This record gives sequence, structure tokens and C-alpha cells, in this order.
Amino acid sequence: MTRSVAIVGAGQSGMQLALGLQAAGHEVTVFSNRTAREIFEGPVMSSQCMFETALQTERELGLDFWADACPRVEGIGMAVRNPQGGKAIEWSARLDGPAQSVDQRVKIPAWMQAFEQRGGRIVWQDVGLDELETCAQAHDLVVVASGKGEISKLFERDAERSPFDAPQRVLALTYVKGMTPREPFPAVSFNLIPGVGEYFVFPALTTTGPCEIMVFEGVPGGPLDCWADVKTPQAHLARSRWILETFLPWEAERCRHIELADDNGVLVGSFAPTVRKPVATLPSGRKVLGLADVVVLNDPITGQGSNNAAKSADIYLERILAHGDAPFDAAWMQQTFDRYWEGYARWATDWTHSLLAPPSPHLHKLLQSATHMPAVASTVVNGFDDPRAFAPWWFDPAEADRFLEAKAREAAADRFDRRDFRKALGQFSTGVTVITTRAIDGRRVGMTANSFSSVSLDPPLVLWSLARNAPSVADFTGASHFAINVLAAHQHHLSRQFSTPQADKFGGVDCCEGTAGVPLLNDVIARFVCRNVRQYDGGDHLIFIGEVERYDRFDGEPLVFHSGYYQVTTRHPECLQ
Ligand SMILES: Cc1cc2nc3c(=O)[nH]c(=O)nc-3n(C[C@H](O)[C@H](O)[C@H](O)COP(=O)(O)OP(=O)(O)OC[C@H]3O[C@@H](n4cnc5c(N)ncnc54)[C@H](O)[C@@H]3O)c2cc1C
Ligand SMILES: Cc1cc2nc3c(=O)[nH]c(=O)nc-3n(C[C@H](O)[C@H](O)[C@H](O)COP(=O)(O)O)c2cc1C
Repeated sequence: MTRSVAIVGAGQSGMQLALGLQAAGHEVTVFSNRTAREIFEGPVMSSQCMFETALQTERELGLDFWADACPRVEGIGMAVRNPQGGKAIEWSARLDGPAQSVDQRVKIPAWMQAFEQRGGRIVWQDVGLDELETCAQAHDLVVVASGKGEISKLFERDAERSPFDAPQRVLALTYVKGMTPREPFPAVSFNLIPGVGEYFVFPALTTTGPCEIMVFEGVPGGPLDCWADVKTPQAHLARSRWILETFLPWEAERCRHIELADDNGVLVGSFAPTVRKPVATLPSGRKVLGLADVVVLNDPITGQGSNNAAKSADIYLERILAHGDAPFDAAWMQQTFDRYWEGYARWATDWTHSLLAPPSPHLHKLLQSATHMPAVASTVVNGFDDPRAFAPWWFDPAEADRFLEAKAREAAADRFDRRDFRKALGQFSTGVTVITTRAIDGRRVGMTANSFSSVSLDPPLVLWSLARNAPSVADFTGASHFAINVLAAHQHHLSRQFSTPQADKFGGVDCCEGTAGVPLLNDVIARFVCRNVRQYDGGDHLIFIGEVERYDRFDGEPLVFHSGYYQVTTRHPECLQ
């Protein structure tokens, strides 16, 4: 059934959602307070560096128009300045997949044009409360994706999730050309100046071709809070140089021949990081749903905003498409946001907040250790794409020590480069299962596993393996039964949900109960309820053998996991039988 959806705000999240809904045949109207031309000819808005997972959501919708033209960011380099002006810490590592930054002045107008060419309607209007009411009357669903716009304040601040009520950094952007490329590979150069602020720089694509984006983050009241008297683009460039010459001479060295990419390639601003409640009630009682920066606005220090905008648009799209013709009520809106918050935003937010505080001794130790421990550097760098990777060791001194010890042990024992070995193993395609059990204390336990395999028909045996350091080890070893739930293609969000550590992973999951109270997921394509008969040593994993006592088989397409991506199957065109 065709649904009519209004989207307020034509930014990363609003346009991505609009184009996704349009491709699925829905009737979408976008409200934008700026025309494509105004955006293209206006000032820069962001540094918008996006990592692999977020880029993939654009790719899946065929929206990666600049995949070839945009420079690739292949890694991240970290430097921490010491009080004498040298480097206390310096290291770098490669990203598993390259990041890219396409100037929003390039991306958004092109997406607007594609949307209109495909029959979409864009209304040029600065939407206020009255217009929102009109929208809500005329549409099945109104999504507010207005970023830092005034209208976003309609959504109540979530005080519990918003520890700051004032800006934590003064921000400045400078888009330049002519910078000396970073060697030996193009990367985000991230520089931390303790107590003063941060500077990062990376290659990007702007309206006039490739450029470098310089991002300055100044602690308010400190020496990088220095933009108030800057009145012209050239003065902005001069101030950018001054900061580097004063604090980061190694970065100034790369900037001998820089010039502004264009006179609009500069920005200064600040805002308080804020999490808001996702559902707002209009005076008429109608509900509207907030998306991306409207509901989770983080400081750019970790470069998560556009990434989260893309990821939230992806989740909202999937939820809307799966909703059929049911009404989009407040409960559905809340669940839609919760899926985004639990799966992505909460991790990015915690991690971003941690970087706004003065560096703690354990963080300093972690960053220091990465200098001589490539595995630590690699985990930190790839955490920019998936900030779940930082929990819990980034936040807690004892966990940080445990993490470093584990990495040291792994490094001593490793015969191969661990990431490369994983990538090679990932060439073998598997299905995806969620293994469930009931803990002795009655908790429902579940985890994503692709190590499942059939073993024997008589007796009916299956196996799977569990990391010895997984928090659920005791629950599985102590259980009389477990169940293997084989996920259907549309259940990829369950794979993510059950591979994200949290106290109760079953929120919003449709399930029933099997033998010994073992939770069974519904809508899967097969289920095997097993007696937990034996466990074998499998190196850093434990191999579980289950004797199948009962199974269910349902129709449906499987979820497939190959080279780190979720995939769907199609029959091989040359083997049609
Ligand atoms: C200095 C800086 C650097 C950043 N660097 C990065 C980075 O490196 N990586 C990263 O991932 N993120 C970065 N971000 C964050 C990122 O830019 C945002 O998180 C992202 O653009 C949010 O997308 P959005 O769709 O929520 O909102 P936006 O992209 O802000 O879009 C909102 C749109 O709504 C429009 N609008 C507002 N009010 C109304 C209204 N009432 N009616 C109609 N239209 C309206 C606005 O004009 C705008 O076009 C940075 C941000 C800043 C400020
Ligand atoms: C596609 C996929 C397959 C996975 N397969 C396994 C596996 O076979 N064994 C394992 O121990 N962890 C596997 N994991 C990781 C676990 O799901 C993850 O570590 C989870 O948090 C463990 O649950 P726990 O934290 O509740 O113990 C997989 C993750 C994904 C995304």
C-alpha cells in the first residue's frame, strides 16, 4: 500500500529517507527552507566524513554518485601534543573500508534533483508549527529531519541522556586546496591538544573538486576559541594557519601553499550536544517523529553526525517499509527511534561525550599503547565506523587494562595478521543464526552466531562455537537446552541487536517459548531446539554440540553473511535447476 510521508528538512537524513521511500513506491513530499541553488552557492555546513557502514546505506539506494570522484580516506592518524610543543603520542592505522566526505553543497542539491526527476515533490518552505499541523493532517506520517533548525526544539530535551547544557567546543571549518598530501596513505589526521582542543583534517570532494577539510574544535574560553574577531574568509584562513603554526607545527608544515577552496568554504559556530525525545505532540494532538540530528545531536569531534544521519534514515526506511498499512502511532515511532538508539546512536553518543572531557589517565594510556600495539590502533580507528567497539574498555580504567592485556596476549600468540585472517575466513559465506537459551536465574539470553553447522543426521547433531570471553559463556555452559534460530533475509536488524552487548537483548523481539523456557524467535526460516550435550575445546572458542530434539522449518529467504556484509541469495543464472 502506498503511504504518504512528509519529510521536513532536506539534509543527509531527510533526503536519504525521501529517496529510499520514493524508490519503494511511496508518496513523499520534502519541505526545505533552502533551494538547491541556495545550498550549492551557500556556506559549508559540515565536514561530513562518512565511514563504511554509513556509505553502504547510500550505496544500497544507488545514491553514491561520487564514489569514484571523491578522494578516499584510508585510515586515521592520531597525534597528541605534549606541553613542550612536540608529539607525546603518534600512530596511525588503516580503516577496514575507506571513508569519504562529499561536501553537502554537492550532495544535497544532486539528491534533490534526482528526487524531483523521479517524480518527488519538494516544497520550499520554512516549516513552522502551523505548517507542521497542515502536514500532519494531510500525510500518514511526518518525519522532522530539520537538524539544528529552530523547529527541532519542538522535541523535548531528554535530560537524562543530555549531560551538557552548553556548547563544549567552538567549531570552525576551513575548506582548502594545495595542502601537502599526508604520507604514506590518505587519512584523517587527528590532533589532540590537551586542555586546548582538537584539530583534524582529511581529503574530501567540494564544489570545485578535491580539497582538504580542516576542522578546529576549541575548548570554550581557551586559545582556540579565537574566531569572534574574524570577519572575512581570508582572515579565517589566516587564523587557521596561526593555530597550526602556534600549536601543531607538523600540520602547519603541510599548509605552506594552501588557499581557500572558495569564499564560502569557511564556518564558525557552536551548539550544545543534545538528545531529544523522538515523538513530539502538536497542539492538535497529532504526533510527529524526529530523525537524526533532531533527536541525537552530537559534537562533531568524533565525526559521527552524518554517519548517524545515514544509519537512522536507513532504520526508519526499513521500519516504514515493514509497517504495511498500519497507522504510524506514537508507540511505533518510539520503537523506531529505540532501534536506532540501541543499535547505533547510544554508542556513538557515549563515546563522543567521553572525548569532550579532559583526557583521563587511562585514555592517555590507551592512546599511548596504540603506538606500539597495532591491534589497539586498529580497534580505535575502526571504532569510528562502529563505536560499539569502544565498550566497555574505553570508559573504565580496569576494563582498559584488561583490554590491553588481551590485545598483548593475542599479539604474542598471533601467527597471522588477525584482521586479514578474519577477512579470509569471511570469504566463506554463511547464514546467520541467533542462539538463545534461558539462564539459571531466568534471564533470556541470545547471541548472533554464524559458526552454526550441521554435524550428524543420526543422531541429529549440530554445532556452533562461542568466544570464551563472551559474557554469556556461563549462561550457555550451564543451560540444559539452547535453540538455533536461522534468520530470514529481512531480519538483519536482529543480527545486529543480538550481537550488541546489552542487559536485555529481547526488547521489541517477537518470540515464544520452547523446551526449558528457551526463547524461540518468530518469523525465522528454521529453528532447532537442542539438548546441550557436549562442549569441546576450540582454542579461544568453545564448541557446543546440540542434539536436536525438535525443529521447525518455515518458508522464506535466508540472511547471508559474506565478507563482513549482510547479503541476500539469488539463484545462479547458469545453474537453474
Ligand atoms: C563543523 C561540523 C563538522 C561536522 N563534521 C562531521 C563529520 O566529519 N562527519 C559526520 O558524520 N558528521 C559531521 N558533522 C555532523 C553532520 O553534518 C550532521 O550530523 C548531519 O548533517 C545531520 O544530518 P541531518 O539530516 O540530521 O540534518 P542537516 O544535514 O542539518 O539537514 C537539516 C536540513 O533541514 C533544513 N531545515 C531546518 N529547519 C527547517 C524548517 N523549519 N523547514 C524546512 N527545512 C528546515 C536545513 O536547512 C537543512 O537543510 C559535522 C557538523 C558540524 C557542524
Ligand atoms: C554475523 C555475526 C556472526 C557472529 N558469530 C559468532 C559466533 O559464531 N560465535 C561467537 O562467539 N560470536 C559471534 N558473533 C559475535 C557475537 O554475536 C557478539 O560478540 C555478542 O555480543 C556475544 O553476546 P554476549 O555479549 O551476550 O555474550 C557474531 C556476530 C555477528 C554480527
